[in-house]
Amino acid sequence: MADTGPNVLIAEERIAPRVDELAARISADYEGVDELVVIGVLKGAFIFLADLARRLTVPHRIDFIAVSSYADGDQRSGEVRMVLDLRESIENRHVLVVEDIVDTGRTLRYLVQQFEARGPASVRTCALTRKKARNEGEIRIDYLGFDIPDMWVVGYGLDYAERHRTLPYIAALDPATLDAD
Ligand code: PRP
Repeated sequence: MADTGPNVLIAEERIAPRVDELAARISADYEGVDELVVIGVLKGAFIFLADLARRLTVPHRIDFIAVSSYADGDQRSGEVRMVLDLRESIENRHVLVVEDIVDTGRTLRYLVQQFEARGPASVRTCALTRKKARNEGEIRIDYLGFDIPDMWVVGYGLDYAERHRTLPYIAALDPATLDAD
């Protein structure tokens, strides 16, 4: 982190109770279900997923996927592709996709389409944060932690150039420091 330091946007003390609430809602909604498949989208979701899943009171298994967006100059082209697929079939299973952030929403839309084509019992989505101003069209998030402004954010799994993922809070990066090392 550059000398200016991170600007805390969502403190650790706010994240934990919100994760508790989300886990309680998810647990209530899936009560009676044999087994939920909780799918984390690498890399950013790994911390949120770890905290969320440990609070679930319904039987669940964990799987991961990784996707990549093709670069197009400074902008992402919007084309998403799977670079690591699920280990197991989700046919006839209840699926919960867990994201750290929904920005344009292309990743989540792509993943929901991919999973729905595999004959699951259901597909729902959970995201810790959403930049609503950046969403392209309607992106359905069944369980949302926080709406955040359109700023560069890091921490609690979120990175800038692979840095700051393990901050215990979510911080806004000052654009003036983005290229600083
Ligand atoms: C982030 C985030 C989502 C995606 C959201 O991943 O974890 O997967 O971008 O963007 P979108 O809504 O515009 O599609 P990133 O590509 O930064 O990879 P990472 O999770 O490995 O940091």
